[in-house]
Amino acid sequence: MKAITRLAAAVSLASLIPFAAHAGEVEVLHWWTSGGEKRAADTLKQLVEEQGHTWKDFAVAGGGGEAAMTVLKTRAVSGNPPAAAQIKGPDIQEWGELGLLTDLDDVAKENKWDEILPKQIAGIMKYDGAYVAVPVNVHRVNWLWINPEVFAKAGATPPKTLDEFFAAADKLKAAGFVPVAHGGQPWQDGTVFEDIVISVLGPEGYRKAFVDLDKDTLTGDKMVQAFATLKKLRDYIDADAAGRDWNTATAMVINGKAGMQIMGDWAKSEWTAANKVAGKDYQCLPFPGTQGSFAFNVDSLAMFKLSKEEDRKAQEDLARTVLGSKFQQFFNQNKGSIPVRLDEDMSAFDSCAQQSMADFKEAAKGPGLQPSLAHGMAASSYVQGAVFDVVTNFFNDPAADPKKAAQQLAAAIQAVQ
Ligand code: GAL
Repeated sequence: MKAITRLAAAVSLASLIPFAAHAGEVEVLHWWTSGGEKRAADTLKQLVEEQGHTWKDFAVAGGGGEAAMTVLKTRAVSGNPPAAAQIKGPDIQEWGELGLLTDLDDVAKENKWDEILPKQIAGIMKYDGAYVAVPVNVHRVNWLWINPEVFAKAGATPPKTLDEFFAAADKLKAAGFVPVAHGGQPWQDGTVFEDIVISVLGPEGYRKAFVDLDKDTLTGDKMVQAFATLKKLRDYIDADAAGRDWNTATAMVINGKAGMQIMGDWAKSEWTAANKVAGKDYQCLPFPGTQGSFAFNVDSLAMFKLSKEEDRKAQEDLARTVLGSKFQQFFNQNKGSIPVRLDEDMSAFDSCAQQSMADFKEAAKGPGLQPSLAHGMAASSYVQGAVFDVVTNFFNDPAADPKKAAQQLAAAIQAVQ
């Protein structure tokens, strides 16, 4: 070997050594498996791999993450948790109490997380004063997605109130479309119900019901009215809704079979993946009657204690990457959410995301900003499960009585507290 070649080989080897010494593996549990969401998750994989680490995908299909949480519990019980898992809201505290989560304060201090994150969100990520999770994004739950072409064909007008919503649904139905694309799964029923509750009770009433778990609010006239509204919605979904995945429902609106979908803005990931343009091919409206309110759903990766030093390093790099600008931009543009860093430049985002960011900031000034119950931000998973049971049973029973349902709601919540 010529001297110069030997030198070049030595140099390139030397530059590889520190890199290789730190390379670890990160296994990440999530449920981002729809076409659009997978594209978003892949951006994280890519950014982690660029740092020399190995990404082990631990994707468990199932919207809302119930299946993923069941699998996570099994893994954790057998003493083999992944490096990171999508765990949200108050559940982070539960995992913290088990002593399984790792302290991320060094990375947090070095990257000024306390300064760049909204206070309400930073608090959720901490257990016992220390960061144990890193927030990924902010999803808004109270959205209505519309296919304007279908609306035009039916002579329907995008609704701003619940009355207008049902008027539009009647027109869509009369014109032969499925008015509302829905997937009959408990978490989707719960998502729709949550939006109706914000609309009927207002953000403060919603808070009393699902954050304070106030019995009078849970059984009050307005809650009965919310159940009555949910019952009315039954007439506008198709007969095949049972068990349908949320992204299949989104596809019905994209393909012009249905006129609208009530869903959080992860639905936008499907529109984006189908190359549809916000404001032109589809419209996003706050769910009728919830203008000024913002039901937030923050995806976050909680980090588990690991034994290998190089895996810990990879885990820290993952945490650092998540709050980096590159990831916040790419991931959220594909996921349908907005950056969790409110200082991010929004110019490359579509009009729905820009509206979401503006509405988030506006809602945060008053009572409009509320945690989503259906997406694990407002209360424990036990309370969430109790609400889903009552709502789903009610929605599936044509003879169900709204007044009784409100009583059952309060009783079911009380039973799990
Ligand atoms: C939510 C989650 C979103 C999205 C959605 C559908 O709970 O926060 O990121 O994945 O479920 O599965």
